[in-house]
Amino acid sequence: MLLVGGGGGFVGRAVLAEFGPTWSIRSLHRAPSRDEVAPDLEWVPGDAAAVPDWRPLLHDVDLVLVLAWYRFGPERRFAPLADGLLRLVAAAEETGTPRFLQLSVPDATESLETGLPYLTHKRRVDRAIERSRLSYSIVRPTMLFGPRDKLLTVMLRTMHRYHRFVMFGDGGYHVSPISVRDLARILAREAALDVRHNVTAGGPTRWVYRELTDAMFAHLGRPPRYVHLSPRGGVRLARFLETVRSTLLYAYEVEWLVSDRLGLAPYEGLSTPLAPVEPFLVAEAARLRGARPAGGG
Ligand SMILES: NC(=O)c1ccc[n+]([C@@H]2O[C@H](COP(=O)([O-])OP(=O)(O)OC[C@H]3O[C@@H](n4cnc5c(N)ncnc54)[C@H](OP(=O)(O)O)[C@@H]3O)[C@@H](O)[C@H]2O)c1
Repeated sequence: MLLVGGGGGFVGRAVLAEFGPTWSIRSLHRAPSRDEVAPDLEWVPGDAAAVPDWRPLLHDVDLVLVLAWYRFGPERRFAPLADGLLRLVAAAEETGTPRFLQLSVPDATESLETGLPYLTHKRRVDRAIERSRLSYSIVRPTMLFGPRDKLLTVMLRTMHRYHRFVMFGDGGYHVSPISVRDLARILAREAALDVRHNVTAGGPTRWVYRELTDAMFAHLGRPPRYVHLSPRGGVRLARFLETVRSTLLYAYEVEWLVSDRLGLAPYEGLSTPLAPVEPFLVAEAARLRGARPAGGG
């Protein structure tokens, strides 16, 4: 397998746990990672934006799995990476790579789809794969949870530390969190198919967002307390955080969340059920409650 984006990132770690025992993996990414361990793994140091010719890396490869992307940044960050991935798609087509998996994201609002470099360039890659002759799956999961995730874990930590949480609007929109381990199982299943399709992937439960955050407070043993902001106020807050270079929350994430497009239906086709989010929340909350709150408070 050629793993583009590496086994050290959040999804990559779960991918290695799932594929590592049975696959030979050639993993291309930029920086060494202590987390990237598998029995038969070769790290190829490199930036996917800068690989001029992917053909040598595709030699003997049965499956390409693309994870590389950035969570935030300007046009100049995404455009070269997308160009590099387009060269990969062309090379895989030329060399007859048997199977190609791209990790993508769910639909977003029209303004984000047409104006946000994170999405416009992701879609350029998605469309190129669809236009190719490759056997492919474009897998589009919603909010992921798992060890060291940047969403639910960060939300829990914020609630634990401040005993309050920001609520955008009435919180009546939906989310269906899916475990990163289940995403890796989905990728393994999709790798074994011979189809050309897009597939969305939600977790087992479609939560009203506000009910999920209430449950998170409950797991922390605290009453739910919210600082209410309008959705527009939430976007403004996130923009401010961006200007001070915080990675806590980005404006597009608020817009996407309140647009009610993240409550995807559960992925179907795995041999065992998708994991619910509650046991993860219970364990993370217990870990936080066992630890001294940051700042000694
Ligand atoms: N996290 C979520 O909730 C979520 C939800 C839906 C979809 N996704 C998708 O899942 C994928 C992985 O996300 P993640 O959360 O695992 O991100 P992550 O933890 O930031 O990992 C990203 C990985 O990509 C590598 N990478 C970044 N830029 C690269 C480049 N130019 N060339 C080569 N490798 C590069 C990084 O390794 P180096 O730094 O060593 O290069 C890192 O291992 C992304 O495509 C994302 O859009 C994530």
